[in-house]
Amino acid sequence: MAIREILTVPDPRLKEVSRPVVGPVTDEHRALMDDMLETMYDAPGIGLAAIQIGVPLRIIVMDLSREEDAREPRYFVNPEILETVEEKKPYEEGCLSVPDIFDEVERSARCRLRYLDYNGNAVEEWAEDLYAVCIQHEMDHLEGTLFIDHLSRLKRQRAIDKVKKAKLRAIREDAN
Ligand code: NI
Repeated sequence: MAIREILTVPDPRLKEVSRPVVGPVTDEHRALMDDMLETMYDAPGIGLAAIQIGVPLRIIVMDLSREEDAREPRYFVNPEILETVEEKKPYEEGCLSVPDIFDEVERSARCRLRYLDYNGNAVEEWAEDLYAVCIQHEMDHLEGTLFIDHLSRLKRQRAIDKVKKAKLRAIREDAN
């Protein structure tokens, strides 16, 4: 397992549409998911899409447990949303690719999912609460959409500028 670099805005790769995994889930995919999970825990975050480490495949990892000694990793290969309810819920979201920016996004309160798990088994289930928020946020990444794309143009631009500035500051501090 290895910790990979997480892409941040305005990296153009974050706007790419990820392609499906074709054929069975292989050891290579599992190695990628292991790296993604380690990278996510290290950040730390609760969800990560493969494109966030520069791999344009429809793969997501997640852990909503928030407890280091009781980890509950979840893996999603080729996830699809089959159904959503009309009820929307706001949630203050953040994203490892838009560090230190948080803002409210409204999404469906529940959705029914289909995906392949770590071992390639097909799963169908309903997601609600934080799980529903997180899977919809992560599946947006697969379409090249970030949570700031749900905000006003002004807020989005401000967020990107802030991340860029913070990055420049970090580079300068490293050089000193
Ligand atoms: Ni994100």
